[in-house]
Amino acid sequence: MNINNFKKAVLQGIPLDLPKPKPFDTTISHAPVRKDSLNEREKKLALRNALRYFDPKHHKVLAPEFAEELKKYGRIYMYRFRPDYKISARKIDDYPHKSVQAAAIMLMLSNNLDDAVAQHPHELITYGGNGAVFQNWAQYLLTMKYLAEMADDQTLAMYSGHPMGLFPSHKDAPRVVITNGLVIPNYSKSDDWEKFNALGVSQYGQMTAGSFMYIGPQGIVHGTTITILNAGRKLPDGENGLGGKVFVTSGLGGMSGAQPKACVIAGAICVIADVNSKAVEKRHAQGWVDEVYTDLDELRIRLEKARKNKEAVSIAYKGNIVELWEKFADKNIKIELGSDQTSLHNPWSGGYYPVGLSFEEANKMMVDDPDRFKLEVQKSLIRQVNAINRLTKNGMYFWDYGNAFLLESSRAGADVMKEDGTFKYPSYVEDIMGPMCFDFGFGPFRWVCTSSKPEDLATTDEIAAEVIENMLKDSPKEIKQQLNDNLLWVKSAADNKLVVGSQARILYADCEGRTRIAEAFNKAVKEERISAPVVLGRDHHDVSGTDSPYRETANIYDGSSFTADMAIQNVIGDSFRGATWVSIHNGGGVGWGEVINGGFGMVLDGSDDSDRRLKSMLYWDVNNGIARRSWARNKEAVFSIKRAMKSEPKLKVTLANIADDDIIEGCFKK
Ligand SMILES: NC(=O)c1ccc[n+]([C@@H]2O[C@H](COP(=O)([O-])OP(=O)(O)OC[C@H]3O[C@@H](n4cnc5c(N)ncnc54)[C@H](O)[C@@H]3O)[C@@H](O)[C@H]2O)c1
Repeated sequence: MNINNFKKAVLQGIPLDLPKPKPFDTTISHAPVRKDSLNEREKKLALRNALRYFDPKHHKVLAPEFAEELKKYGRIYMYRFRPDYKISARKIDDYPHKSVQAAAIMLMLSNNLDDAVAQHPHELITYGGNGAVFQNWAQYLLTMKYLAEMADDQTLAMYSGHPMGLFPSHKDAPRVVITNGLVIPNYSKSDDWEKFNALGVSQYGQMTAGSFMYIGPQGIVHGTTITILNAGRKLPDGENGLGGKVFVTSGLGGMSGAQPKACVIAGAICVIADVNSKAVEKRHAQGWVDEVYTDLDELRIRLEKARKNKEAVSIAYKGNIVELWEKFADKNIKIELGSDQTSLHNPWSGGYYPVGLSFEEANKMMVDDPDRFKLEVQKSLIRQVNAINRLTKNGMYFWDYGNAFLLESSRAGADVMKEDGTFKYPSYVEDIMGPMCFDFGFGPFRWVCTSSKPEDLATTDEIAAEVIENMLKDSPKEIKQQLNDNLLWVKSAADNKLVVGSQARILYADCEGRTRIAEAFNKAVKEERISAPVVLGRDHHDVSGTDSPYRETANIYDGSSFTADMAIQNVIGDSFRGATWVSIHNGGGVGWGEVINGGFGMVLDGSDDSDRRLKSMLYWDVNNGIARRSWARNKEAVFSIKRAMKSEPKLKVTLANIADDDIIEGCFKK
């Protein structure tokens, strides 16, 4: 479709005449059929809800079609309305717009739905099995139209993918405010989600899917590289590096697919299982995993060769992770590092495939016999944990990868608990990300070049590297290692060919780094060294944006890890300090009801307004979380917030006094 027709199609929104029904495309990955969670009354309600988007003259045709979709797939996606044009991150001027900020948002959300980026693009799922950008195609079409028409004194309110409408605001207000999956707390069980989502009134936005900030698996490669490097440093001979050491894990999906690439960047051997052959083939074709095996004995021989030669290589097993763990445990194979990245935040609807069933059998059973399926998942987790326990006894360092592996295993009755009621294994946030990154303010800052030109991305890489090199000259010793890891990352990022979709880069940075890099980008846009605006953002998986007791706030030990004030304060604070769009979600990563997470997007167009906004918003966006972490007595955060207060007299944070343990214990002596 040529550019003019594309623009026309966007401006049209929901077409007045019905487009032809679309055949079901079997060449791409589709979301698993969702379980039938509605009674007849609720099914009628779901249908009425869906028809709200369309002129009544079409209802006779659409009602039976949508009823059939609900019956067949458990959801109404409105497949017929999927546009005929290719959805991808085009250059910003291709989007019809009155507001440059709104056009940048169109680019970002389009990237989340690109066939090459999204996990189940036709069901509008970006990653994580259920991480949705929209619930249906009508919401997509309407949102694009609103964004194309809006001006810089309007704000689009979005309720779980549904564009409620444009409301008058002002130029410093966010252009879009997004909420996903927010419910009354007592109704936040996964069955509630199934029902609300099937009714078309709520969606699971994951972390960055529903906030249009997903940048493909690169987003997670950097964090995973940092995690693997630092996990390696925890081994008894950690100072010798990762050459010849083995990391075993699972998942070649949206985020998990980053593991083999990251492991190779870190210099180790990765052995990774996935049951979905489409996921394996996709990552293999992209070069993110080097070799694929279906025979475990052949795989074992290959592994030993790689170990002997200290090759940095990634080896996929097309099959169930339990089979892989059991094989290694039975054969007493030495494994140094282990984790799991199946989608256990969503265990009963396709996030975890139990051992002993084929992929197809599992997909059928989760719909036809959900109770039996649940039992199979639990049995499988028990077996998986048993094998992992045997290998950790033999020296393997295992960590939970923020996918609710330990949580669901414990619920399944697997042997993962210590006597004191805590988990046997740490989460990667407790041991690594929390103390080494988040408490110092380092988190997954990212940017996207809206020209969609690789040359602009190369310029931003150079600018970011220069900023870090300058910071290293006078940075305190506490953060030198982080800065050095990040410098190495950004300098080799282009060679590692990490871009899938938009011209994006991720870089762990602290408050000072984020601000200095953003200022330099804005200046470069103004001076036309970068040819179009740059979008800033971050993963929700960060210092301040997310309250998640089993992940981002797992290293908060003052009892407040189950509160969500920080995430809510953060999104409110970002929105009045100049964010271009903000979002706050229930769920994401560890599962519905288990986390509140938020994020922002910010367009740098080279203006003085952008310069003012970036300084005001980024400062809060990082220091809010450091302040909370310092109040929880985390020593790295105490160090960081004191340092921040020294350099900014207007920052005055309440500091914690530390009680003497003897005084506390004395109060409870019998
Ligand atoms: N890497 C991180 O830092 C990080 C951060 C946030 C969240 N996570 C969590 O990691 C999980 C994975 O995320 P994703 O986006 O890759 O999800 P995904 O659903 O795209 O991928 C998971 C993959 O696991 C495979 N799988 C499921 N059960 C399996 C089994 N028993 N054996 C082998 N393969 C199996 C699936 O086929 C799928 O391809 C999610 O729970 C996510 O929230 C990880």
